Amino acid sequence: MRIGNLKLNGYVYIPPMAGVTDLVYRTLCRELDPDVLLATEMLSSKSLTFAHKNKFNHDHAKRMQIPEGDALTGIQLFGHEPDVMAEAARIAEEVGAKFIDINMGCPVPKIVKGMDGAALMREPELAAQIVSKVIQATSLPVTVKMRLGWCSESINSPDLAKSFEQLGVQALTIHGRTRAQKYTGEADWQLIRNVVESISIPVFANGDVKDIFDAKEIIEISGASGVAIARATMGKPWLSKQVNHYIKTGEILPEPSILSKIQLAIRHTEMLVEHKGLKTGIQEARRHIANYTHGIPGAGKLRAKIMEINSLEEAKETISKLANLSLT
Ligand SMILES: Cc1cc2nc3c(=O)[nH]c(=O)nc-3n(C[C@H](O)[C@H](O)[C@H](O)COP(=O)(O)O)c2cc1C
Repeated sequence: MRIGNLKLNGYVYIPPMAGVTDLVYRTLCRELDPDVLLATEMLSSKSLTFAHKNKFNHDHAKRMQIPEGDALTGIQLFGHEPDVMAEAARIAEEVGAKFIDINMGCPVPKIVKGMDGAALMREPELAAQIVSKVIQATSLPVTVKMRLGWCSESINSPDLAKSFEQLGVQALTIHGRTRAQKYTGEADWQLIRNVVESISIPVFANGDVKDIFDAKEIIEISGASGVAIARATMGKPWLSKQVNHYIKTGEILPEPSILSKIQLAIRHTEMLVEHKGLKTGIQEARRHIANYTHGIPGAGKLRAKIMEINSLEEAKETISKLANLSLT
């Protein structure tokens, strides 16, 4: 698959998740699958351009960080002002993004009230202006992530997709829900096919893929070139490699051992503390530890304890307990 000048050997995209796909998460995903397409958390074009004028604050620089040599990580931007989005895209290129993804799918009230995210699906002219300006501003491939439409009465993703393709967008991610659905109900993989059939650029089908079998099925049902898997990679950063292998060969790679999962949970925690400091690092690590250890015998009983971890030592002690429990 090609996304402009990017050549992909795999089928999987781990799309933006605010509060999740930070540098640490992406580093681990990359280690476990060199072929996976990755993106930062969504970044506000407005605050990014403001921060850039003021010589960047620490937080922005960190959130945009892409490891040197990484050829398959993009930066996702949100906003509704074409010139500001264009300026943000220039900055993103400067700091090493390999593609620019425009967010037209975020359903959060605060975002759509500001005419950002999924609200742009109701403003096709403005959406097209944003896309044009961003494409003019950067030499990188530009992609768009959106939903099926605003609500079930306005499924306009195939029309938007056609217009974006004509403007020069190089790939799309379609979450098979409407904005009105937010995260309720089930993603409709069949409706993604209407988008795929209306254009010839690659589409990543997205929504509710939990395992390798779902990944194969969403591609079959939608006819998409690839699959975007978000939530199911939490605590399973190796999933993309398993999916790629399964789609390519039909073989099922084994699950990592309990010990490897535990080691990964500890490493993720250490990296978060190093990257974000003790307080934030540990706070954020709790959810990841719970995800990594989900399903390991004894983990359920330790869940409350995991959510109260306050130091690296406590984290290691709690997680190691699990190793002992599971070995007995
Ligand atoms: C915690 C969380 C944060 C998210 N943040 C973003 C974001 O910043 N930008 C975006 O386009 N989508 C975001 N999403 C949506 C996901 O990228 C994805 O479209 C959605 O979760 C459906 O895919 P899934 O069923 O594989 O999780 C987020 C989802 C979650 C759960």
